[in-house]
Amino acid sequence: MRNSKIAGVGHYVPEKVVTNKDLEKLMDTSDEWIRERTGIVERRYFQEGIDTTANMGANAAQKALKMANLDATDIDMIVFATLSPDYMFPGSGVLLQRELGLKEIPALDIRNQCSGFVYALSVADQFIKTGMYDNILVVGSEIHSSGLDFSTRGRGVSVIFGDGAGAAVLTPSESNDKGILSTHLHADGEFAEELAVIDPGSIKNNRLTHEMIDEGTIYPYMNGNLVFKHAVTRFPEVIQEALNKNGYKATDIDMLIPHQANLRITSYIQQKMGLPAEKVMSNIQKYGNTTAASVPIALSEAVQENRIKEGDLVCLAAFGSGFTWASALIRW
Ligand code: UT7
Repeated sequence: MRNSKIAGVGHYVPEKVVTNKDLEKLMDTSDEWIRERTGIVERRYFQEGIDTTANMGANAAQKALKMANLDATDIDMIVFATLSPDYMFPGSGVLLQRELGLKEIPALDIRNQCSGFVYALSVADQFIKTGMYDNILVVGSEIHSSGLDFSTRGRGVSVIFGDGAGAAVLTPSESNDKGILSTHLHADGEFAEELAVIDPGSIKNNRLTHEMIDEGTIYPYMNGNLVFKHAVTRFPEVIQEALNKNGYKATDIDMLIPHQANLRITSYIQQKMGLPAEKVMSNIQKYGNTTAASVPIALSEAVQENRIKEGDLVCLAAFGSGFTWASALIRW
């Protein structure tokens, strides 16, 4: 079976910059608390009428296609990862297809939150391995800012999330020593409600009520301490799993791209894996946690900054709501 490779990457973030100081005006928080606990300095928020989850994805996709030297019409399939789709249904994949002016190619939406992009990459990789498709567009795009509780009640979550999009174009690799070497996917539904948006949900007779809005169950809930504890266990575990599968050790990694959940989590992973800071990508300072978009944005920036060169061993890893976690090992 043939390998797939990432032939192009790209990202797009909305223009509007929101600093920690801006959030201080909305809720009882402080720049100091946010920096110390999360590493975040600022994030981007979408602007209604300008940015949508789908069109931000399309923007990132155009850049990834350019790097891959492909036209949108060369794409055989779209895999779109988001937890903040434009509509309840249909998914954002079909809207992205429309944005790119494409017809009839399949568009699949993936709902695996922070692990969404790595799950999506794995799905695309399987389609290329089997020979069903050649060129697949994988996108992670999120708009969080329209769904956050900006009162003090929501501060534990709202200061963390940001908006943005990243994309990758997958094509068949010329050799089996190059491209995506393996992907590793995991989930544990026991903790489904520990990081979740519960309402509006289909299990209630009335999906959306005034009480839900008043009580704030329409906003993301996170048991931060519990999520943190699981994250620092699962990240190193799933990175090690990818290394073991391919006969490498942690110090063979040239660039580790972890999901940008918290700078403290990233520092912990870096130390646990015994890697120098320059081999671990961190851009949470600028964008906050953009869930499914965070890995492709970080990957795209690492490529843009020439921090990844041909032949490098690149590891992507993510953990988040579900709980779900995943990794991908790539010979660039
Ligand atoms: O992307 C998916 C995966 N997500 C993650 O991996 C996130 C994992 N969790 C975390 O990153 C951290 O748990 C948080 C950054 C969310 C929170 O940091 P923490 O160090 O775990 O803080 P905490 O929740 O234990 O709260 C400590 C204190 C509390 O006050 P008391 O009870 O000690 O008086 C909170 O009420 O900080 C308070 N607090 C805040 N204060 C100012 C919580 N949020 C804020 C805030 N500003 N925004």
